[in-house]
Amino acid sequence: MNPEIRPMCESDLDQIIRIERQIFLFPWSPGNFADSLKAGYLCRVMEDNQAILGYSIMMMGPDEAHILTLGINPDWQRQGLGEKMLHYLIEFAIGKDAKSVLLDVRESNHGAARLYRQLGFEQIGIRKGYYPAMCGREDALVMQLRL
Ligand SMILES: CC(C)(COP(=O)(O)OP(=O)(O)OC[C@H]1O[C@@H](n2cnc3c(N)ncnc32)[C@H](O)[C@@H]1OP(=O)(O)O)[C@@H](O)C(=O)NCCC(=O)NCCS
Repeated sequence: MNPEIRPMCESDLDQIIRIERQIFLFPWSPGNFADSLKAGYLCRVMEDNQAILGYSIMMMGPDEAHILTLGINPDWQRQGLGEKMLHYLIEFAIGKDAKSVLLDVRESNHGAARLYRQLGFEQIGIRKGYYPAMCGREDALVMQLRL
C-alpha cells in the first residue's frame, strides 16, 4: 500500500466526518471542516483506492505552522500513516521557511503525544481547561517542533 496525500475537497467531507466521529469524543462539525477549506488552510487527505485513510489541517502563519487536527481511520491506525502525514506537514512547513510547528494535544492522549515526541516535538506549555471533557474540562499540552 502506498497511499497518496492530496488536497482535501468538499466532496471528501462525508467520509472525513464519519472517521472524525469514530476517533474523537468531541468531533469537529462539517462546518468546522468547510470553514478550514474556505479559510485556505492546508487541508490534506491521505487516500488509497478512493478510500480516505486519514486527514490533517494546518494553518500557516508567517513564522509558525499550527497543526489544527490530524486523524487516521481507526482501521488503519498504528501502521505508520500518522507519522507519514506528520512528515508531510513538517516538510511543507520547512518549504515555507517556518521556524516551528505547533500543536495542542489532550493531556490524556498519550499515544498521539508519544508520536509527536518521537518526531522531535517538545512540550512548551499547558492550556488549562482547553478541551471539553466528559466531566468538565481537560488541559491541552502545547507542543512545538523547532525547524
Ligand atoms: C494519533 C494518530 C494520529 C496516530 O496515527 P497512527 O497512524 O495511528 O500512528 P503511527 O502508526 O504513525 O504511529 C507511530 C508511532 O507513534 C506512537 N503511537 C501512535 N499511536 C499510539 C497509541 N495509540 N499508543 C501508543 N503509541 C502510539 C507509537 O510509538 C507508534 O509506533 P509503533 O506503532 O511502532 O509503536 C491516530 O492514532 C489517530 O488518528 N488517533 C485518533 C485521533 C487523534 O488522537 N488525533 C491526534 C489529535 S492531537
